[in-house]
Amino acid sequence: MTSVFEKTLSYETFKEAASVIRNYASEHRGLGYIACGAVVFGFGPMLRKKFFAWFNNQVTKMKNEEYEALKREAFAGLATQQSSDPEFQKVSALKILEIGVGSGTNFSFYPDGSHLTVVDPNPYFADYYMQNRKKFPNIKAETVIVSYGEDMDMVESNSVDAVVITLVLCSVKDVAKVVSQIKRVLVPGGKFYFIEHIQEWDQSSHGYRWFIQNLLTWSRIWPFFFEGCNLNRNPLPFIQSVGFSEVQYERLYAPMPAKVFMVASPHVRGVATK
Ligand SMILES: C[S@@+](CC[C@H](N)C(=O)[O-])C[C@H]1O[C@@H](n2cnc3c(N)ncnc32)[C@H](O)[C@@H]1O
Repeated sequence: MTSVFEKTLSYETFKEAASVIRNYASEHRGLGYIACGAVVFGFGPMLRKKFFAWFNNQVTKMKNEEYEALKREAFAGLATQQSSDPEFQKVSALKILEIGVGSGTNFSFYPDGSHLTVVDPNPYFADYYMQNRKKFPNIKAETVIVSYGEDMDMVESNSVDAVVITLVLCSVKDVAKVVSQIKRVLVPGGKFYFIEHIQEWDQSSHGYRWFIQNLLTWSRIWPFFFEGCNLNRNPLPFIQSVGFSEVQYERLYAPMPAKVFMVASPHVRGVATK
């Protein structure tokens, strides 16, 4: 038979713990998500992928207008770029490849009538992706490839006008390989648009951030929870050395949706031309 003590302990303790967690999570949303991550810590790679897809979709919803403005400026060239295909030129559309598309956060920046091919190795993004996709019927025939950016041999060489990447090169296994695949699939004159978070560059003013980025990455804590994301990476030298005819870029501190993500605020955005 259950004693009064056991009843009180199980019910009251549970209620109290739940309310503490609820209050804490509502005050510190970013940390709350990390705590959720801790719960799935022991459940293996499949659950981690699932968690990351869900988590990333949640963060996407938190993104603010300032971050959207940052993207709008970075992708402004898409609106004026001319396709290499005369049929596409007639309707001012483009053939676009987005690598690491996740839940699909960039559709609103693509010119009407553009044809989209997307690549992502995490199949658990599919539902979130489809939900977002439905809101943009102006984007046409699309090919979804579940694969790594390093292994895009199924995408023809010299076949797309633009490649788009946002917050992906931090996670790939081989940055040089992905960047050389991007250059391969672009038509001559095609453009590679990128926005990536990178290693803190100003150690004298933000040495603490540089230190935390290294600590969280070297300890593998951050990559473990965030699907291999490295906070202390800089893909720019790879982009500059792969043989693009021109690389324009800008480093900036991006507004983050929660304080805990300020560690990923240093960004680079740019356009490389084949
Ligand atoms: C932080 S999410 C960014 C998603 C989306 N681009 C955005 O801005 O919201 C990183 C994405 O990169 C994908 N990814 C990780 N490794 C990759 C690789 N080697 N090749 C292509 N995509 C990769 C992940 O599955 C995930 O969708």
